[in-house]
Amino acid sequence: MAWRTITGVLLLALFCIGCSAIPEKPAIYIFGDSTADVGTNSFLPNSQFRANYLYYGIDFPKSTPTGRFSNGLNTADFISKLMGLESSPPPFLSINSTSSLKKYSMIGLNFASGGSGILDLTGENVTTNTLKSKKNKNVVSLREQIKQFAAVRGTLADLMGQAAARNYLANCLFFISTGSNDIFAYYLTRSNVPKNEFTSILGSKYERHLELLISLGARKIGIISVPPIGCCPSPRAVNETGGCLDGLNEQAVTFHSTIRIMMDRISSRHKEIKYSIGNAFNMTMDVLQSPISLFNETKAACCGTGKLNAQKMCNPKSSLCSDRTKYLFWDSFHPTSAASEVAATTLFQGGPRYVYPINFSQLAAA
Ligand SMILES: *[C@@H]1O[C@H](CO)[C@@H](O)[C@H](O)[C@H]1NC(C)=O
Ligand SMILES: *[C@@H]1O[C@H](CO)[C@@H](O)[C@H](O)[C@H]1NC(C)=O
Ligand SMILES: *[C@@H]1O[C@H](CO)[C@@H](O)[C@H](O)[C@H]1NC(C)=O
Ligand SMILES: *[C@@H]1O[C@H](CO)[C@@H](O)[C@H](O)[C@H]1NC(C)=O
Ligand SMILES: *[C@@H]1O[C@H](CO)[C@@H](O)[C@H](O)[C@H]1NC(C)=O
Ligand SMILES: *[C@@H]1O[C@H](CO)[C@@H](O)[C@H](O)[C@H]1NC(C)=O
Repeated sequence: MAWRTITGVLLLALFCIGCSAIPEKPAIYIFGDSTADVGTNSFLPNSQFRANYLYYGIDFPKSTPTGRFSNGLNTADFISKLMGLESSPPPFLSINSTSSLKKYSMIGLNFASGGSGILDLTGENVTTNTLKSKKNKNVVSLREQIKQFAAVRGTLADLMGQAAARNYLANCLFFISTGSNDIFAYYLTRSNVPKNEFTSILGSKYERHLELLISLGARKIGIISVPPIGCCPSPRAVNETGGCLDGLNEQAVTFHSTIRIMMDRISSRHKEIKYSIGNAFNMTMDVLQSPISLFNETKAACCGTGKLNAQKMCNPKSSLCSDRTKYLFWDSFHPTSAASEVAATTLFQGGPRYVYPINFSQLAAA
């Protein structure tokens, strides 16, 4: 009798240690480039792609730069908010203790790194970066971001056990925003690889990254495709007329269909996958073409120098617009906080013109 009670208590105790370790809310893990980076690159001491100086972050309390490529929050922040997180997942590279790694593994972590792309080479090459050691990296490639997530997955398995970690991860959201930098690099290096071939290389590399993420437990995947990057202030500034660079936009359109086909293929291989693809191209084009736009300045950058305020990245000596809520673009490449909020809201609750086959709120509930 006594033994039975003791065993019962022990079993109960073991069971409850197990169950209390599993948080109620699914975590959000964020991957990609500067559109989702919340300060990763500030932890790479010699990175050339950083935004940890003014006027970045001007709309934060005390105008403190955070490493975000924005005047305030970015799309990843707004998505996290809409998904019900109390604060945006911090950069994985900011985690400096085992206890905070355990804590944030079960809330969310952000691996995104400005300047990175789908290809390992994208963002890696910068002439001033002579040392090739890990510390002197420019960017964290998507491949390395996924490797970092593998460590997080290991932490979850240690905390919960393999089976529980698998079940927990099946409800977590994996948000990825990447691809623009690969296409920019293709244009800037005047690559002689034919366009279609390049897009299909990007697609197959992306597919391999996703397969790895799925093998690590990802089941709910939210992807945002490439916006009409030819309409960013910087490419516009090199066009005499100030018009969008059509070549870049065509690549963005092709890439969108590549992603759709890729996700079809992935979900036919893995029936348990749920996904949503945000059509950043249509979202942005509709804002650009609407006669009564939310933003009355959709061409020039708010912070910058020269033609369309786009001839230098935003810096403390830049000219700064007065009403940032009226601008679509914050700097020569990145949207304002206001525009990012519109994008996140559209991903969350938009219809099939913008999110396919389901929207992010449906993905969260699926
Ligand atoms: C660890 O991170 C916290 C929060 O980001 C910071 O306040 C603290 O100084 C860091 N500690 C070390 C030892 O770097
Ligand atoms: C990186 O730099 C090397 C050497 O300068 C060059 O050959 C290569 O094409 C560059 N790659 C990219 C993607 O820019
Ligand atoms: C520059 O913009 C015009 C529209 O103003 C467009 O017709 C033209 O194709 C653009 N040039 C390039 C190289 O894309
Ligand atoms: C935007 O609208 C404001 C007032 O509504 C006006 O003062 C400003 O000139 C407009 N800017 C542009 C670029 O149209
Ligand atoms: C998208 O999300 C909202 C809830 O946020 C839902 O009510 C709506 O039906 C969805 N829209 C479409 C067209 O899928
Ligand atoms: C995007 O917009 C174009 C028209 O501008 C339309 O033909 C296309 O079907 C839209 N894409 C999606 C996925 O709805």
